[in-house]
Amino acid sequence: MADTSNPSPQPVSFAAIVVAAGKGLRAGGERPKQFREWRGKPLIRHSVEALADAGSNPILVVLASDTQDLAERALAGIEGVKFVQGGRTRQQSVANGLEALREQAPQTVLIHDAARPDLPQSVIDRLLGALSAHSGAIPVLPVVDSLAIAQKDGTMGGKAEREVLRRVQTPQAFRYAEILSAHKNWAGEPDAGDDAQVLAQKGGAIALVQGDERLKKVTFAEDFVTEQQAQFRIGQGFDVHRLVEGEELWLCGVQIPHDKGLSGHSDADVALHAITDAVLGGIGDGDIGTHFPPSDPQWRGARSAQFLEHAVKLADEAGYALGNIDLTIICEAPKIGPHRSSMREAVSAMIGLSTDAISIKATTTERLGFTGRGEGIAAQAIVSLSAIRP
Ligand code: CTP
Ligand code: MG
Repeated sequence: MADTSNPSPQPVSFAAIVVAAGKGLRAGGERPKQFREWRGKPLIRHSVEALADAGSNPILVVLASDTQDLAERALAGIEGVKFVQGGRTRQQSVANGLEALREQAPQTVLIHDAARPDLPQSVIDRLLGALSAHSGAIPVLPVVDSLAIAQKDGTMGGKAEREVLRRVQTPQAFRYAEILSAHKNWAGEPDAGDDAQVLAQKGGAIALVQGDERLKKVTFAEDFVTEQQAQFRIGQGFDVHRLVEGEELWLCGVQIPHDKGLSGHSDADVALHAITDAVLGGIGDGDIGTHFPPSDPQWRGARSAQFLEHAVKLADEAGYALGNIDLTIICEAPKIGPHRSSMREAVSAMIGLSTDAISIKATTTERLGFTGRGEGIAAQAIVSLSAIRP
């Protein structure tokens, strides 16, 4: 019997050129911006993956000659990627990419800046849709600020009409034969603003489709800083241990004199357990039981400081540093206030966070519940984490 179920839609096939031969002078850094890390992978990899997912084949990546190694590493394993030598200007880099497609002669080509990592599929769909009736299609956004025309003497002149102006992004979509011929015969400024301008000069009709703020081009050093700041996480943890006679009472790595102590597999430091779970929560890496199973005899009577130290090390490996800790200990007795500063100092010594960033609070539950009856102590913690590597 014929299979009548809907097959998943096949992606439309088209070629793509990703220009990545620039030096990224405005962004600075040890290597050109397109090969720097951006949200966990090389910046260029984001858009090349999006193009591959959208069905682009081949994807020609245009490179400066000394960056081939960087590009090979950054794009390892993505199907359809080929490298082409870039030119002195962006226009020349695009022209080289188009030349390299001659044999294949695709019907449609998308030209994209490697410096725009976030490439939504919806934009690709709009561009390809508009190409059926036009020689080219480009994503644009309205101008939100009012505009002024700057004169050479630094004063304002003329009248700028915001309503008819648009901000232009990439990718830009073209019928291959037309954009190839336009670039080949380009006799304008050595660095054409973009490919649509090259085609427009030849009289090609270019559709304006809705762009996307996410397509923003990474240009300046601050763009990397802002991105790093954006990588901020929080985690929370909660723990309870039973108060019993004949046990020591440890809170935040400090032994506190009391007629009862906390029972548990390790030293039962409920406060450090809550902080440890908050750190693990912030990096999405399980909980204290995942890393230190209570069934494992090696953790019997263990100092809980090592659990927290290990969680902070895992956060570091994941690329995050602790920003601050806010801990609340919930018990009727003992009084926490007199021990607060030694507890903050103990946590600070454990993980190298300044005491200003370690808050230790305590509350009772008004004699209500298990903490109110002195049967146990509860602790909850919240931590902030921020990315340490751009
Ligand atoms: N580009 C290129 N070949 C050139 C110049 C630029 O392929 N000769 C590419 C860049 O790699 C980038 C895109 O064109 O992906 C947009 O250019 P831009 O943002 O100006 O990047 P850079 O020229 O590298 O940066 P800068 O101008 O700050 O040096
Ligand atoms: Mg440039």
